[in-house]
Amino acid sequence: MRRLSSIAIAAGLSMAALSALSWAATAPAKPAAKASPSAVRPVTIGALDGAAIANADRHPGDWLSHGRDYQEQRFSPLTQINAANVGRLGLAWHADLGSTRGLEGTPLVVGGVIYNVQPWNIVKAFDARTGKQLWSYDPKVPEGTARNGCCDIVTRGLAAWKGKIYVATLDGRLIALDAKTGKPSWTVNTFDDGQKALLTITGAPRVFDGKVVIGNAGGESAARGYITAYDAATGKQSWRFYIVPGDPALKEAPNQATADKVARPTWNGEFWKSGGGGNDWDTIIYDPKLKLVYIGTGNAAPWAPQFRSTMPGDDNLFNSSIVALHVEDGSYAWHYQEIPNEQWDFDATAPLMLADLKIDGKVRQTIMHAPKNGFFYVLDRATGKLISAKDYIPQNWADGIDLETGRPRIRKEMLLTEKPILVIPNAAHNWQSMAFNPQTGLVYFPVNETGRIIALKPDFQLKIGGLSQTGESLVGYPDLRKQLAEENRKHQNYFLIAWDPVKQKEAWRVPYKRGGSGGVLTTAGNLVFQGTSDATLAAYDARTGKKLWESPVQQSPIAAPISYSLGGVQYIAINAGFGGGLAHDNVNASEPGLNLYDYGRLLVFKLDGKAKLPEFKFMRAALEPPPRIPHSNGDVREGFDVYNANCAVCHGADARGGVKDLRRMSSQTHKDFFDIVLRGKRAANGMPNFGDKLSQRDAEMIQKYLVARIEDDWVELKAGN
Ligand code: HEC
Repeated sequence: MRRLSSIAIAAGLSMAALSALSWAATAPAKPAAKASPSAVRPVTIGALDGAAIANADRHPGDWLSHGRDYQEQRFSPLTQINAANVGRLGLAWHADLGSTRGLEGTPLVVGGVIYNVQPWNIVKAFDARTGKQLWSYDPKVPEGTARNGCCDIVTRGLAAWKGKIYVATLDGRLIALDAKTGKPSWTVNTFDDGQKALLTITGAPRVFDGKVVIGNAGGESAARGYITAYDAATGKQSWRFYIVPGDPALKEAPNQATADKVARPTWNGEFWKSGGGGNDWDTIIYDPKLKLVYIGTGNAAPWAPQFRSTMPGDDNLFNSSIVALHVEDGSYAWHYQEIPNEQWDFDATAPLMLADLKIDGKVRQTIMHAPKNGFFYVLDRATGKLISAKDYIPQNWADGIDLETGRPRIRKEMLLTEKPILVIPNAAHNWQSMAFNPQTGLVYFPVNETGRIIALKPDFQLKIGGLSQTGESLVGYPDLRKQLAEENRKHQNYFLIAWDPVKQKEAWRVPYKRGGSGGVLTTAGNLVFQGTSDATLAAYDARTGKKLWESPVQQSPIAAPISYSLGGVQYIAINAGFGGGLAHDNVNASEPGLNLYDYGRLLVFKLDGKAKLPEFKFMRAALEPPPRIPHSNGDVREGFDVYNANCAVCHGADARGGVKDLRRMSSQTHKDFFDIVLRGKRAANGMPNFGDKLSQRDAEMIQKYLVARIEDDWVELKAGN
């Protein structure tokens, strides 16, 4: 493992040049830093349009879109709460959300109302000053849909425009709600008929140019990714852009023509049968001046390249790329592929962010990206040309990025084979929000520095329909796997990073004991806010990283904080609820005192807030020994495979934790096991019925595997009791 040499192009830039950073094409004439709560001009929800979002700094008291403005810098110009007084921050109010699943949503604030979204895409509106609930809307997502997702029933946000709130549901509906009443005004199905069982939506819709735009997830299910734009007023489809080419027998829409010319030659064989992937399941961003939409595309489907395209080394466009589209018709403008022939689940779906940065004396219109693969990319957002790229943590898959071609120098020994390798990083930075502070010139985001042991399944067969179409092998080479796991444990660091995108250099970091800390907000009060895996909300000095305030919140918030202002009072709001599929992999679920299963809350803070957070009554079920069920090694192997393909996304890798720790089942639950798994006994509680997919034998083998896991972990389980 080695740290690669710097290829920063702007090293040596003076502090003066830094502070002269031009930061926003839409910056107000007055510096945003001077905005005081009394200058705040709230927008009414009826008047909220694209111009208001593009000029979000004129409405600093609101939080009008997912990343606050079109640049998605998540920088609040409010200064009432600042580095000098943040120590006085206290709870103003909280709302119990009645959900035990991961809360990943960023709320919106428009005209004194806070709009929030929680698991199962339930939308709630609250009076932003008092916390009084105004309405709640439940789109009634069928529980079975949860099976189609890679990472639980999470949801990341909403969009708002001209009196409407837009929510996209796990089962593929895009719904426009009346912002006053929460009643649906129109609904469209965004899923291709043939891909219904392969796709889910967990991302936030965005609104621009009078269109509401949404992508989907499915790269682990042999899907073909796409994003769609709808008329925001009527729901009529404006355009759809497919990220990878499809079956040549199908007639493509005219807006695909250029993309097709560029992408199709980079695929060979009957590639469309594996879907191809590329699903943009999170980030969509817009530049209103250039009229370009930017998307970050997903990993290829399946992961293993030889199962999706027959020519070794095919680039497979537009997987793992940033693609720019013309907003009018969704046609291709340019692309930058971060990883050609991607094969390690390094998608490019982490949040994209726009900023105008002074680089080598010239103001550049940039797009910034810090995806899973460990590199921080700065691109020219008008042309797609790579300006700089630098690894923000140690990584071992590339010897740097060639700035001429933009291509990574991939290390041959890191290409996938049946023999396991340790790829570093794993998901260094995922969907968690990042923030840019124009006053410090720094970008802030959470980093998980770990690796992943990965190998190809020797007998992999592509089966359309169902998760785990990755081709990843989880067994074989036991000694080598043990050795790699040992090596991996030596390099695990978790921290909040402050990154200088001009110098391509770390400015400071705040280490954490364990992974899973949340997204980030920065403010003109020289602050960075983050929910931490220590079950707190913390505030840091944006220049130095010094901790200035921290409050226990009984949960580890993974979502992004936001800030708003009402009646002269500035607030900080955050959803607090740990979870989200494999998020649990970062923690030891049996660590004493770690509350992972409690009800999520929306928390709102202000200076001198005096409200008290009621203690959770956390009841951990008594530990019971597993039933005596005979299990051979072959049974356990078989159960392990079925478990990984169907259960691990919610119950965690190795059955350690997840939404409910299956190592802690009661003897009654063991008796009910087949009713729960095959007959939907707990479907109402969010445990999907697998009766139409798994056989009695499958369920028996899973139970045997679980019994073996309990026996293996018995000492650890008792210790954590
Ligand atoms: C989409 C998420 C999801 C998936 C996938 C999933 N489960 Fe669950 N499961 C849950 C939730 C949520 C609960 C908690 C339900 C409750 O509290 O009653 C649960 C509970 C259970 C329970 C009861 C545990 C207890 O101690 O009460 C069993 C048994 C179970 N799941 C087995 C499985 C098996 C086996 C699979 C794979 C075939 C699976 N689950 C896949 C979400 C999921």
